[in-house]
Amino acid sequence: MRLFTTPDAMRAWSHDQRRGGHRVAVVPTMGALHAGHLALVEAALQRADRVIVTIFVNSLQFNLSNDFDSYPRPIDDDLSACERAGVDAVYAPTAAAMYSSEFQTYVEPGELADRLEGPLRPGHFRGVTTVVTKLLGATTPDLALFGQKDFQQLAIIRRMVTDLDLGVEIVGVPIIREPDGLASSSRNVRLSPDDRVGAVVLSQALTAAASAFLEGERSADSVMATVVSLIKTEPRASLEYVAVVDATTLQPVTRIESPAVVLLAGWFGDVRLIDNCVLGDNGHC
Ligand code: PAJ
Repeated sequence: MRLFTTPDAMRAWSHDQRRGGHRVAVVPTMGALHAGHLALVEAALQRADRVIVTIFVNSLQFNLSNDFDSYPRPIDDDLSACERAGVDAVYAPTAAAMYSSEFQTYVEPGELADRLEGPLRPGHFRGVTTVVTKLLGATTPDLALFGQKDFQQLAIIRRMVTDLDLGVEIVGVPIIREPDGLASSSRNVRLSPDDRVGAVVLSQALTAAASAFLEGERSADSVMATVVSLIKTEPRASLEYVAVVDATTLQPVTRIESPAVVLLAGWFGDVRLIDNCVLGDNGHC
């Protein structure tokens, strides 16, 4: 497995692979790799001849400095996990290689970033679109894989790649969950033991919403009420929002006719977790 730390070295290798006729996939991550990330790697290995994992904790997308500082960075474990998974190259640039003191160019997302997570995390999606553009520039892949765990992020990246003619195929991968249903996340390790137990309520609430939909419920208000009442049963949880939106436009819906998604964010102590569930013909949580 190759390890690159500068964009030029990364790009040179990727160009060589593509010139050799190989299809190159990239899986962008912030490290602290877990089963969710490894599912993206597996999906990449199925679709490409060469797989690059990028590992970079992107300061630009953190709106809370304590979240950035406390973000886990187990780089040795991450490199071993990549090696074991059959990754061909890891791109782990230094902060200085990514953001020099002269850095001044950003990618501004549009309306899709104005709702849900957007207003609650000012500057977050602009940080994501900027870093993803840089990571695609350094890795020059044929395809890039992202998790549906970050549903709004995936929608914004798809839009960006179309709007800016980046010519990279974007693949969305379903959410991977822990055995009790909690969506795998690098932030889960920061939960206290009691909060870790309580956090299962988020996925339970979404499963209840999906069941209500399958039983014929089409009112977004009723689906949201189901989520709220379940989360209220867990005193350790503090629900920040729940929303039912169109799966493509992310606009709120009142009746669930075409594919819609229920999204939520909640706090356990100082740890913020997000989760979602797609309702519709190909619904999945
Ligand atoms: P990170 O949170 O490390 O996630 C990297 C990728 O893994 C994202 O595409 C995310 O949606 C996916 N992922 C995380 N948990 C998952 C789960 N339980 N199931 C399926 N996929 C999961 O998302 C980011 O990093 C950053 O914003 C990044 C895109 C790398 C830009 O910095």
